[in-house]
Amino acid sequence: MNYKKTILITGGAGFIGNHVVRLFVKKYPEYRVINLDKLTYAGNLANLKDVEDEPNYVFVKADICDFEKILEIFKLYAVTDVIHLAAESHVDRSIKDPFTFAQTNVMGTLSLLQAAKEMWQDDYSSHRFYHVSTDEVYGALDFDDTLFTETTSYDPHSPYSASKAASDHFVRAFHDTYGLNVIISNCSNNYGPYQFPEKLIPLFINNIRHRKPLPVYGKGENVRDWLYVIDHARAIDVVFHKGKAGDTYNIGGFNEWKNIDLIKVMIKTVDKLLGNPEGHSLDLITFVTDRAGHDLRYAIDSRKLKNELGWEPSLQFEEGIEKTVKWYLENQDWLDNVTSGEYEKYYEKMYGK
Ligand code: NAD
Ligand code: TYD
Repeated sequence: MNYKKTILITGGAGFIGNHVVRLFVKKYPEYRVINLDKLTYAGNLANLKDVEDEPNYVFVKADICDFEKILEIFKLYAVTDVIHLAAESHVDRSIKDPFTFAQTNVMGTLSLLQAAKEMWQDDYSSHRFYHVSTDEVYGALDFDDTLFTETTSYDPHSPYSASKAASDHFVRAFHDTYGLNVIISNCSNNYGPYQFPEKLIPLFINNIRHRKPLPVYGKGENVRDWLYVIDHARAIDVVFHKGKAGDTYNIGGFNEWKNIDLIKVMIKTVDKLLGNPEGHSLDLITFVTDRAGHDLRYAIDSRKLKNELGWEPSLQFEEGIEKTVKWYLENQDWLDNVTSGEYEKYYEKMYGK
C-alpha cells in the first residue's frame, strides 16, 4: 500500500502515546504509524493490544538517544513526519535522577531533530516535526495569578520541567536556524486509562482499592489543571493537521483542582463503585513531607487552540473521573502486571534489553 504519510510516533507505548497511536492508526488508515519506544518501565505494549495487528501499525524498539539507529529508521521506513512524545515524565524520579532526564528529554529530542534535519532537507515545509510538551515549563502560578498563555516566559523549577523546557528551546532553534517545520503543544496534567500508577490519580485509585495509605504531599493545597487523555490525543490530531509551522498551542481543560479536593472526589467515586459506605476511605489520607520545589499551581489558557483551530475538551471532569476510576477497577490485572514488573521481563525476552 502507498501510504499518504509515514508518521514516527515516539513514546507510543506510554500513557499518552498509546492513545495517540490508537487514534492515528484507526482514524487514518491512509497513514502508516511507526511506534518507536525504548520500553522503559513506563512503556507497555499491552496498552496497544487492540492495534498491534492493524496493517498500518509497526512497532520498533529503539532509544531516541541512539542517533545512528534513528537515522536508520528514518531511512528504512521513509518517515515523513514525527510526533514526539517519548520522555522521562515523572517529577519525583527527576528529583532523584536528573541525568536520565537530561539525557532522554534533551539529547533524545536533539537526536530526532538532527535526523529530521538531515533526512528532510530537500523540502522542510512538507514534513512536520511535532513536539509534545508540558505546561510545567512555565513554572508555577500563585493562587490569584492569571493562567499560562503561549507567551508566558519559561521558568521551570524541577529537573523534569527544566529538561522539557530545554527540549522546547532546541525544537524552536531548529525552526529558526534551519527552517524545520516544527510545532509545539504544552498540555496540562492528563488523566485516564493506562497511566503508570506512580502518578497521583492511578496511584491513589489503586491504594484506595487495597486500603493502603494515600500519601498527600504537604497540605494537599497544590492546584493542577486536569484533562482527559483522549481529549489530549484529539488536540494533538488537530494541532498536527491544522497548526501553523513554528507555532505553539496550549492544551488544557479549564479544570483546576486543589489536590485534596480531587483526592476526596476519587475516594467518593471509588467507594461508590466498590459499594462502600460514603466516607469509608477518608481515613487513608496521610499527609507526608512535601515534594522538594513543589510547584504551587498550574493552569492553562487554551483559548488560542479553541479560537484558531476549533478544539475543545469533549468530557466534563465528573464524567471523566468516573470513567477513569471504573477503568482501573475493571483492569486490576493491568495494574498488578505493571506494578509487579513482570511485563518488563516479558518484553525484554521478546525484544532484548
Ligand atoms: P510516560 O512516562 O507514560 O511514557 C513515556 C514513554 O516514552 C514510555 O513508553 C517510554 O518507554 C518511552 N521512552 C522513555 N525514554 C525513551 C527513550 N530514550 N527512547 C524511546 N522511548 C522512550 O509519559 P506520558 O505521560 O505518556 O507523557 C508523554 C509526553 O507528554 C511526554 O513528553 C510528557 O512530557 C508530555 N506530557 C505529559 C503530561 C502528563 O500529564 N502525563 C502532560 C503534558 C505533557
Ligand atoms: P503528579 O501526578 O506526579 O503530576 P505533576 O507533578 O506532574 O503535576 O502529581 C500531581 C499532584 O499530586 C502534584 O501536586 C503532586 C501531588 N502528589 C501527591 O500529593 N502525592 C503523590 O503520591 C503523588 C504521586 C503526587
